[in-house]
Amino acid sequence: MEKIYITTAIPYVNGVPHVGHALDYLLADTCSRYQKMLGNDVRFQAGTDEHGNKIFQKAKELNVPVQEYVDENAKKFQDFIHLLGAEYTDFVRTTDKDHEKRVQEIWKKLSDHIYLAKYEGWYCTGCERYITDKEYEENHGVCPDHQKPYEKLAEENYYFRLADFKDKIREAISSHEILILPEFREKEILKLLDDSPDVSISRPKSQLTWGVPVPDDENQVMYVWMDALSNYITVLGYPDKDISDFWPAYAQFVGKDILRFHTILWPAMLMALGLPLPKTIVSHGMILVNGQKMSKSIGNVVDPLEVLDKHGTEAFRYYFLRHIDTFADSDFTWDKFEDAYNNELANDLGNLVQRLATMCKKNGFSLSDAPEIEISKEYQDLMNEFRFKDAFDFAWDKVQNINKKIDDKKPWVLAKENKEKELSEVLKELVTDITEVNKLLSPFLPETSDKIAKIFVNEIMPPETPLFPKK
Ligand code: MSP
Repeated sequence: MEKIYITTAIPYVNGVPHVGHALDYLLADTCSRYQKMLGNDVRFQAGTDEHGNKIFQKAKELNVPVQEYVDENAKKFQDFIHLLGAEYTDFVRTTDKDHEKRVQEIWKKLSDHIYLAKYEGWYCTGCERYITDKEYEENHGVCPDHQKPYEKLAEENYYFRLADFKDKIREAISSHEILILPEFREKEILKLLDDSPDVSISRPKSQLTWGVPVPDDENQVMYVWMDALSNYITVLGYPDKDISDFWPAYAQFVGKDILRFHTILWPAMLMALGLPLPKTIVSHGMILVNGQKMSKSIGNVVDPLEVLDKHGTEAFRYYFLRHIDTFADSDFTWDKFEDAYNNELANDLGNLVQRLATMCKKNGFSLSDAPEIEISKEYQDLMNEFRFKDAFDFAWDKVQNINKKIDDKKPWVLAKENKEKELSEVLKELVTDITEVNKLLSPFLPETSDKIAKIFVNEIMPPETPLFPKK
């Protein structure tokens, strides 16, 4: 049994959960469930990123005390993760006292690589990121993601000497000691690494109050990303506890927009701490609506709670794990969602289960022994390569093949002709097939898979209500 640690990006709590956030949780949860199915011991972290000006300003705007504001929103994220059926084991909030104390200890451990200097340049509060002059020029002074002009900063900050680690990071990425997925992003990151200056890792208290104080300097507060990235190890207890049973992480799930932090600053911090690097950083694409970025100003924001409320957890998981590409940008549209629900979940799977279970019951068929199930190598390879959508497609092909097999073998004709032995053989084959495919579906659709397993065990009983009623 292996010990597997899986992490998700911790969202800023300056708003409510949106569909984009769901991707991290669903990919990580699928991975976690698959690893558990293999018998591994999994720790699965989730959490919330609660410091920084973006959050502070939002609370002020709403006239709510900031702690109250983050408490409320952190709770919404926890509820959201539960609604998605994602089974995390650890939840970290960056305002947790334990986390704050541990981040300060981490800072002290990094001190050989930290120096004080003047920063004069640009910042984007939306991204909570320092902007290089080159980027400033390329984007004509306006953040393309937030449509806001970059702010000019001239202040004294602490810097992290990235230069101490650049060669080692380049080597770790190129040798796949830390594997970046999808692999085509590797080049992009290596280029960014070459262009990355030392990283400013604090802000003067006059500019940022809502953050972890820098140890031994009452005038400075830590830069949110230092604080946030540390969550992956503080939640395991670092540096108070030995974390070597679960660290390095098996997989860290993040969106492509924050891949740079996880493959440049994060490895540098880990190297400075003398900790091993995560094995894989899996970056997913963005969810678009009709090919466009979701944005409040366009008014095309899809509320995940509305989707969950209308169609339930399993339908949500189905769409986001199969119709949203694991690695590339993909579209959400209600039409596509509803088509997938009715034609695939309700027809291909729901009807299949109903039809087959009804046939078994009508003909008094049940399996004497639960079939031995071997998980096919092809599926395992896809899952091990984090190609979840492809693995889901692979399982779904099998669902469709069972439907074809029923149409070809026409068990109802065998029943009519009283060919009992043949009928029983066909039903046995079909039930074995569905039991096998059900296992492959279980990391994606855990609740449905549990239901199907119960329907086809011992005395086969068709479900009283369809698994996915047509809408
Ligand atoms: N707080 C940082 C992460 C710190 S991790 C140490 C952050 N927060 S976020 O709320 O902006 O994003 C959280 C996650 O949601 C990221 O993985 C991000 O890529 C993902 N998404 C946010 N919007 C998204 C879409 N529209 N589509 C897909 N994923 C998106 O970044």
